[in-house]
Amino acid sequence: MAFPQAFLDELVARSDIVDVVGSYVQLTKKGSNLFGLCPFHNEKTASFSVSPDKQIYYCFGCKRGGGVINFIMEEENLPFPDAVRFLAKRAGMEVPEEDGDREAGRKRQRLLDLNRDAARFYYQMLQQPEGRAVQEYLDRRKIRKATAVNFGLGASLDSWDALILAMTKKGYTKAELLEAGLAVQNRNGGLYDKFRNRLMFPVIDTRGDVVAFGGRVLDKSEPKYMNSQETPVYSKRRVLYGLNLAKKSKRPNIILCEGNIDVVTLHQAGFDNAVASMGTALTVEQTRLLSRFTEELVLCYDNDNAGKVATDRALEILNNTEFSVKVLQLPRRRTEDGELVKQDADDFIKFQGRDAFEALLSGSANGMEFRMAQIAGKYDLTNDEDRVSYSEEISSLLATLTNPVEREVYTARAAEAAKITPEAMGLEVKRAARRRSSQERRAELRRDLNPAAQLQPKERELRYGNLRSARAEEGILRLLTQDDSVFPADAPLRPDQFSSSLLGRAYALLWEIRAGGRRPSLAALTGQFSQEEMNHLTSVCQQPESRQNGRQALADYIRIVQAEAEKRLGGGDADPLLAATEKYKGKKGTGGKQHGR
Ligand code: CTP
Ligand code: MN
Repeated sequence: MAFPQAFLDELVARSDIVDVVGSYVQLTKKGSNLFGLCPFHNEKTASFSVSPDKQIYYCFGCKRGGGVINFIMEEENLPFPDAVRFLAKRAGMEVPEEDGDREAGRKRQRLLDLNRDAARFYYQMLQQPEGRAVQEYLDRRKIRKATAVNFGLGASLDSWDALILAMTKKGYTKAELLEAGLAVQNRNGGLYDKFRNRLMFPVIDTRGDVVAFGGRVLDKSEPKYMNSQETPVYSKRRVLYGLNLAKKSKRPNIILCEGNIDVVTLHQAGFDNAVASMGTALTVEQTRLLSRFTEELVLCYDNDNAGKVATDRALEILNNTEFSVKVLQLPRRRTEDGELVKQDADDFIKFQGRDAFEALLSGSANGMEFRMAQIAGKYDLTNDEDRVSYSEEISSLLATLTNPVEREVYTARAAEAAKITPEAMGLEVKRAARRRSSQERRAELRRDLNPAAQLQPKERELRYGNLRSARAEEGILRLLTQDDSVFPADAPLRPDQFSSSLLGRAYALLWEIRAGGRRPSLAALTGQFSQEEMNHLTSVCQQPESRQNGRQALADYIRIVQAEAEKRLGGGDADPLLAATEKYKGKKGTGGKQHGR
């Protein structure tokens, strides 16, 4: 179900993209466009552009783009209908809600209600005799009552249907239980509780809604953790466990750790700024979310191999962001048998105590120091050969530093570690930097020499089958969104003559807008395309198209598309069998997926 097109048009018209984007991003005028630092990827030079004429934004770095509604969807983390409501509120417009939209909103709310009721049920069970096993487990993990209450921890029972019974009694349907990921269907169609005999962690987003659950076993059985699947109210890339509490912390930073228990234990020890990404690598969406609440992040992953890899990946994502990043390295622990074992934040607090953790926190190294120590750890620096290899490897890392002061400081440190002069190390770093930039140049050259690859959409799924036709189709869309006065009254092409189903679909919709007497623009199409499709359409339409020979260009484009379509859809002398299969192929891609309602 859609909002009326006339309403969307007016909404877009009343939500000037420069004003809307300008309240999130500082923009500077450059030619006919405005530029700023991209809010969707991390960068130091402005490659994010806003076109007041076309009412679109486009980032030349990460290649994301769209109209004003896309921007709000991405920036505010909202689905299409909610982004529309958000903008309507901003523009002081009343939203003509259709039954379908109201219905989708109601359904979302039902799932959230169900999750909340399920969380209450698990919480109550923890206080009952049936929840004894879980309570004993909490005691063993030294999690106090007040902490459990603060996190809303609960108990799923050792039963196949305790939750299903309780929730159906409250009026929730089986379909809703399945959709929320709280029940699972067996082969005979019967339902059983997904979470059984587990310690339950409700996952609460920053708005305070229960969006998902994690459940831990009470013994050594597998899987240790079970998490909700992705649902209409839960996308794990966009949520961090504990952020609902950590966002209120008075501490100056946010600590990122690996697990649910780490978060709970850290909060209990007074570190109420801890969050976890629940068994997945840190995502860009999560860093964007974090940026609303803090400027400093402390990475506190386990000190095993997996934890180091996670730290490296997180540092990569956070490289060149506005965040200042530190790495808190947990030491290994010596057991009574003298064995060195890994510990996570929870173990460390248990064995070394909160003061020791506070000391680590205040002394934690920055990302560069962490990476340098990691490289140093690979070599025996008393051995000459190793010192040479160390110098080579560390200088490629140092060469990535663009700030000359930083580069000098860390180069001096590396030199000290390798016991060579800072001058010698400095030369090595310069060589590495030269190597690096010539590698980059070569890669760029390769890209330039291979224009075909450059012209393809970034998303594999959207790749063009016929580049010649697609280039012309792109030109037609550009003209249509830029200066439709060159078009005749009747549609010069049918959408199925387009070789790219995406471009054909966009053409059909834009033409519909034009036929309705309105000005075709990308910004009003947001609800019809996925964000990936919108990114590509924007990259197409933001390119300059000369207005001078519009009519001639249009005629050339049309001729190419027609000729290629003829070959594909079957012209006179084509091989009939081949034409038939090509025809079939051409059809397969059309129709496309509707998005977001
Ligand atoms: N995780 C998961 N599925 C698993 C194992 C782990 O989703 N099979 C996620 C959980 O969110 C878990 C996190 O990854 O909290 C870290 O895993 P791990 O270090 O194994 O768990 P801990 O939080 O340390 O839990 P515990 O101390 O209870 O073993
Ligand atoms: Mn643990």
